[in-house]
Order: sequence, then structure tokens, then C-alpha cells
Amino acid sequence: MSIVDAKEMLLKATEEKYAVGAFNITNLIQMEAVVEAAVNKRAPLIIQTSVTPSKFLAPKVLVAIYKTLAESAPIPICLHLDHCIDVEYCKQCADAGYTNIMIDASKQVFKENIRQTKQVCDYCHGIGSISVEGELGTVSGVEDQVKVAEDEASLCDPKQALEFVDQTGIDIFAPAIGTAHGVYKTKNPKLDFNRLKEISELINGDEPKVPLVIHGGTGLQPDVVKKLVSLGGSKFNVSTELKHTLIDTTHDYISSHRDEYNPGKIDAAVKEGIINGIYYWIDILGCAGKA
Ligand code: 13P
Repeated sequence: MSIVDAKEMLLKATEEKYAVGAFNITNLIQMEAVVEAAVNKRAPLIIQTSVTPSKFLAPKVLVAIYKTLAESAPIPICLHLDHCIDVEYCKQCADAGYTNIMIDASKQVFKENIRQTKQVCDYCHGIGSISVEGELGTVSGVEDQVKVAEDEASLCDPKQALEFVDQTGIDIFAPAIGTAHGVYKTKNPKLDFNRLKEISELINGDEPKVPLVIHGGTGLQPDVVKKLVSLGGSKFNVSTELKHTLIDTTHDYISSHRDEYNPGKIDAAVKEGIINGIYYWIDILGCAGKA
């Protein structure tokens, strides 16, 4: 039951109005931590890697570790490639065994975004049930190789969203609604809830068809997260927070144990920090007990 199709996992979430946490990891300790937290909460899980850590660790190595952890876990778990702007690398990761691929051609003009996204969909659907995520509009901030300045960001046009979904054949859709990658500059960033509602009704109004993704989870207030989920967000991406936990916990541990040379203890501290962070997300996303 553990290695599954993301679309099925997220259609269930859309129908039952909860969201699945999609957590970006950069190393083995983080991957083990997110799996352990999700197993303890009996929550479905999406593990994500951005392109740089994917290339650094190698897709086949990541897939081997993912499969080893997922096969013995009593919950469904997917492995997702996040924000890839290169069609060929999307195909390489699909071949290696990632179960979801995000082609991010959102900086391209509409027609080119459709062309590249469809190319990845055709490839992934042709080699098996690999789900593909596409994005329309642009999410501001920095996510690995994708950088969008605030004044460059554009929100998703609901009518174009329908056309994009129909013409590409995507399984999962990320509409830009004002969330941002990285740390928010204000406590209450300006989000377009009505736009999300409209897109959700247009695409999934009659029955759930293409689950919606919310990017830029780090720093959003819990009531905002819950509102985004109630309006139809069923995959919720969190990345920056895990990087901060990894670096801050390592720094704090070493600062207070400067004479100790025991890497395992640093790893244990990082793992504990990540697990506690994931418990928080699983609780506010409402996916505890849904596996
Ligand atoms: P944050 O880094 O803001 O949590 O965003 C994560 C994300 O959307 C990854 O695709």
C-alpha cells in the first residue's frame, strides 16, 4: 500500500477536505524524519526533492532510499520532483522511479507552458502511472533554481486554468494565488482566497478531478492554512521550514556540545526537530489518521 499514485491520494483528500503535507527534504535524516512522523500520525505523505538536492544525491539513490522506507511503512507515500524547469530532467527522474513530477514552465508564455507541461505528461503517463503537476501564474520568492521577484509574480487566471488543465492532461494543478516561497515579509501576506475558490469550483466543482496544490507553506498562520484547505487545496508544500530546522538545530547542538565529536547525536537532534515540525503540519492540514 505504501508506494502509490499521488493523484489517487489527493483526489481522496480533495473529496474529504483535508490536505496532504508535501515536504521538501535535502538528506536522508530529513527523509527518515518525515516518514517516521507520518507513520506515527497515520497520515498519507508526499516526500519532495528540489532539483539541486536531487542531482546532488542522484535520482536512483533517492528512489532506492524512498522505496526502502515506503515499502515497510503502513501508510501511502509518494516521491515528488519539485519545480523542475528542464523537461529532460523530469523524464530522467520519472525513469528512475519518482512517482510524481512537477514540470514548472510557469515563467514561459501560456502556449509554451502548455507545450512543455504536456510533453512531460505524455512521457510520464506513457511509462506508468506517474502523476504530473503543472503551474500557472508565478509564485514569488526563491525555490531552488526558480526565482521570481515580487513585482514579476502573476496570479493564475481562472479561465486559463481550465484551458491549461484540459490541454496539458496534468494530474495535479498549482495555481498561483499569492503565496510565496521562502520567509514571508509580513505576518499576513495578501492571498487571493476568492481566486482559489473560483478555480476550485471551475475544476473540481462537480466532482474532484484535478487536485490543487498550495505552494509556499512556510510561515503561513494556521487559520490561513485551514482556510486554503477548506477552499480546495489538497497538497500543501513546505520547504524552507525544514531547511531552517536542519541548520538551526545543527548550529544549536554544536554550539552547546563543542567538545563532543558524535555525528549521530547531531542527526538525532535534527530528526527530532523535523518530526515535531511535521506533527504540527499534519495536525493543521487535517490528514492525521487518513492513511
Ligand atoms: P516554502 O519554502 O515557502 O515552504 O515553499 C515550499 C514550496 O512551495 C515548495 O514547492
